Amino acid sequence: MKRKVTKAIFPVAGLGTRFLPATKSIPKEILTLVDRPLIQYAIDEARSAGIREFIFVTSRGKGALEDYFDDAPELENALRKAGKTELLETLKTTNMDSGAIAYVRQNRPMGLGHAVWCARRLVANEAFAVILTDDVIAAEKPCLQQMMEAYSETGGNMVATMEVPPEKTASYGILDVGEDMGTIVRAKGMVEKPAKDDAPSNLAVIGRYILTPKIMQNLHRLKAGTGGEIQLTDAIAEEIRQGESVYGFRFRGQRFDCGSKAGFLQATVAFALAREDLRDEFAQYLAHMTAVQKAAE
Ligand code: G1P
Repeated sequence: MKRKVTKAIFPVAGLGTRFLPATKSIPKEILTLVDRPLIQYAIDEARSAGIREFIFVTSRGKGALEDYFDDAPELENALRKAGKTELLETLKTTNMDSGAIAYVRQNRPMGLGHAVWCARRLVANEAFAVILTDDVIAAEKPCLQQMMEAYSETGGNMVATMEVPPEKTASYGILDVGEDMGTIVRAKGMVEKPAKDDAPSNLAVIGRYILTPKIMQNLHRLKAGTGGEIQLTDAIAEEIRQGESVYGFRFRGQRFDCGSKAGFLQATVAFALAREDLRDEFAQYLAHMTAVQKAAE
């Protein structure tokens, strides 16, 4: 059976307090790795996975995000006149077709589950993807595309997953593994941010999901879970209790936690070193800085 997923939700309503003061006036999704904002990485990944409808769950102060995806005719003209064709092409990849993006507002910060629920009418009766822009994944084949391929075989619900150090379980949704088939695991439970000693495993959920629309009903019924927020994890756990299939997918690629400063800096270094135009100079600089640090110790 062919299963096609063409809608994706991007929960981008978060305040981004970890990046204050920068996020006082710009959405954290506009913060750049080298020269592309985080949101662009997420959109590109979604596109390559076959997503055609992009649903942004936003909040107050996220106007810059909406502008980012508009055509910029004046800028394009200036680049054209100056003969900067390469830049022009780069710029065009950020334009989105009219009607491809929809915005819904999350009026109050009530958690990831609530943000996803805000998009229920746009999702309607179709399976959909969720991408968390904080999780940037460098991979030969984009993570969501890997998942779509697996999902076309399994159906059900699917979350990206990877092993984390046991002392880090309190930062993630954690899978209770029913059956481990290697790349794919069948989950028999899911817990949001358990302490090390309560965690059913160290398999963490990373911010890529493919979900059935029934999740929206579970979210609707959910009372406040962990931390007084409505958790997506709890709605997925409820699916499992209702007898639905939930799979964890061990993706191939390197994930960066761009919701943290350290992770963001690591991603910056990795992406800069992956760029032909920057690699040599930047690698030299890093080597120099490391030597200076060592000498100072
Ligand atoms: C969210 C989810 C969590 C997941 C994580 C992945 O948490 O609630 O289940 O493991 O994203 O990055 P957050 O990082 O937003 O606190």
